[in-house]
Amino acid sequence: MPPLPHPDPALTDGVVLLRPWRESDLPQRFAGFADPLCLRFSWPLEEPFTEQHLRARFEDEEPARLRGEEIGFAVVNAAEPADIRGGASIYDAGRSEGRMGVGYWLAPHAHGRGNATRTLRLLTRWAFDELAVERLELTCGPDNIASQQVALRCGFVREGLLRSHIPFQGGRRDTVLFSLLPGESE
Ligand SMILES: CC(C)(COP(=O)(O)OP(=O)(O)OC[C@H]1O[C@@H](n2cnc3c(N)ncnc32)[C@H](O)[C@@H]1OP(=O)(O)O)[C@@H](O)C(=O)NCCC(=O)NCCS
Repeated sequence: MPPLPHPDPALTDGVVLLRPWRESDLPQRFAGFADPLCLRFSWPLEEPFTEQHLRARFEDEEPARLRGEEIGFAVVNAAEPADIRGGASIYDAGRSEGRMGVGYWLAPHAHGRGNATRTLRLLTRWAFDELAVERLELTCGPDNIASQQVALRCGFVREGLLRSHIPFQGGRRDTVLFSLLPGESE
């Protein structure tokens, strides 16, 4: 697949801004994602999340973008770009057939203020307008109520439960599947 382009100008609504990750973000990024809530819902491995895992992921992000597989963003305070509120990505969920997936997480200090909702709205608009995506998919664990609320707030439709969908933390996990189609964004 062709590379995924960097949004130009950067995606922002004046409150959050989405920019590429930088090596200098690694300590703050690690501290944010190492939050027990993120690990509970977004760390799929049984082994503990370490700085080496994060560095390996960081080093694969640009090659993955160039392969057209995934584009990751630091979600930062638009007024203070060094303040990292979380992360988000758009990934290939069947791109050749017009489908992409979207994911997000927030650092503890950024919860409960609409940062994830704002981020998801920016990403969905960009994916439909600039990537010509025909269907955006969002998946999460059945017990991840906060994430499901973010999805519903942005107009995603809950399609159902995928049983025993993915390997997760030493077992297998069910997944709730949501989708959004062009013109459905809120
Ligand atoms: C999922 C996750 C990002 C949701 O975070 P969140 O803080 O609940 O989401 P938002 O930033 O959109 O904030 C929403 C809350 O802020 C409030 N809020 C304040 N201003 C708001 C605004 N302008 N717009 C929307 N919501 C606003 C809402 O009322 C809402 O509160 P409520 O949930 O009590 O109704 C967070 O729980 C997280 O990082 N979890 C761990 C990682 C994870 O699960 N990622 C998703 C994997 S599928």
